[in-house]
Amino acid sequence: MTAVTLSTSSAATLRADAIVVGVTKGAKGPRVAPGAESVDSAFDGKLAATLETVGASGAEGEVTKLPAAAGLKAPLVVAVGLGDAPEEGDSFDPEALRRAAGVAARSLAGVKKASFALPAQGAAEVEAIATGALLGAYAFTTYQAQADGAKGSLAEAALTGAKPRDKAHKAAVERAVAVAAEVNRARDLINTPPNDLNPKAFAATVQAAAKEFGLKVEVLDEKALLKGGYGGIMGVGQGSATPPRLVRVAYTHAKATRTLAFVGKGITYDSGGISLKPPGHNETMKCDMSGAAAVFGAVVASAKLGLPVNVTGWLALAENMPGGGATRPGDVLKMYSGTTVEVLNTDAEGRLVLADAIARASEESPDAIVDVATLTGAMVLALGSERFGIMSNNDEFRGRVHAAALAEGEDSWPMPLPEQLRKTFDSPTADIANMGSRPGGGLVAGLFLREFVGEGITWAHLDIAGPAFHEGAPFGYTPKGGTGSAVRTLVALARRTAEGELF
Ligand code: BES
Ligand code: MN
Ligand code: ZN
Repeated sequence: MTAVTLSTSSAATLRADAIVVGVTKGAKGPRVAPGAESVDSAFDGKLAATLETVGASGAEGEVTKLPAAAGLKAPLVVAVGLGDAPEEGDSFDPEALRRAAGVAARSLAGVKKASFALPAQGAAEVEAIATGALLGAYAFTTYQAQADGAKGSLAEAALTGAKPRDKAHKAAVERAVAVAAEVNRARDLINTPPNDLNPKAFAATVQAAAKEFGLKVEVLDEKALLKGGYGGIMGVGQGSATPPRLVRVAYTHAKATRTLAFVGKGITYDSGGISLKPPGHNETMKCDMSGAAAVFGAVVASAKLGLPVNVTGWLALAENMPGGGATRPGDVLKMYSGTTVEVLNTDAEGRLVLADAIARASEESPDAIVDVATLTGAMVLALGSERFGIMSNNDEFRGRVHAAALAEGEDSWPMPLPEQLRKTFDSPTADIANMGSRPGGGLVAGLFLREFVGEGITWAHLDIAGPAFHEGAPFGYTPKGGTGSAVRTLVALARRTAEGELF
């Protein structure tokens, strides 16, 4: 991964391959943002005018490259747009900084060292710039020959303007490094093709990481799942040549007074099962384990940060395939909770594996359960592909989850769980069915999950089907493919719990 360093040198005097500067959108054209004063001086104070000449406006997402002026210790200046400047006395929006740093890092793929002379006034800004650079520099090249493309990432981002001897600034960079590494780990898992990342391989990856980071891990294999009565997970996994797994990975802290349970949907490939998905709907379905990847990343990040809170991750891993042993539409599954479910559509598999994991997680009476899942196409239709939906059995908690996501720059929106929709998944044969009303399908899925949450436990459900996998052109710090959606929100929830802010 890209290294982030803090430098005492000014941007002008630091030896590098490129200097990144910020540009805001002024009433009379682009303006050089704070942090790049020394660079502007090398341009005789005409950096903004030069940028305007070549068409820069300071708009968010804009990148303008200029040959450096004489006297600078780098050959290239990369100006990134920050959008409107904050009001006098206000600080820059952290998300604008993250995105700008991400855009810059992305445009510097393959470069060895770039200095980042962006407005790094306080620790929050330092953290945002470091996070954006680390996430923007991400590239997934495992399956590409070095010769064709695969330039690799920016090797080093040296932040100028920050104070290397300031404890808060140093801690901010350490936090950014820990969290970004876990977002990127989630991205790697999501991008790994499903022939290589099956439930067994995923579980093995967690076991290896658990050793490295001192986490406690337990893996239930198909025998244990059968014996334990995990009818939902088994029912979804039984059509695949690679059997399912339920992984419990726990980080504990001696001084913790609270425990959070994170539950992730880990369908390593969703073919739809017997209710097979048509072409056009299955090409990206390796992303259907994004929830489990986010949970895994968040547990590891909590450990790296040493947060005084217990975080238990539950990864419900299965491959949804239409093999000879597959569950049929019409089958009834007996779930871990004892509830019977008539499977009307084998493509509504996520709620089945999650139901078992949520019921199992409930047995440990955590202070809250938060599940993360690429659960429904309906949520993508409702919110678009850049926002996840948040549902909860507690409106106040839902609001707090939303606030945590917002502060991390993860776009999301609170969604209701309308009681009228509950009866739409009544079944004539079993206790309930795995499908109900199509209108409001994302909310129906949420209501289904609610059935499996233990009595009195606070629960939230994040449907990340939209933002988990990015198919369009990269933007900000978001690459094509797996995004690592929800990792930062989950870590923020763990941190807020540790700080006594969530409960
Ligand atoms: N994994 C899909 C949901 C999905 C869709 C994720 C698009 C990412 C992008 C899920 O398992 C699914 O197939 N859901 C069905 C549910 C329906 C059959 C009730 C859906 O949304 O169509
Ligand atoms: Mn499905
Ligand atoms: Zn699915």
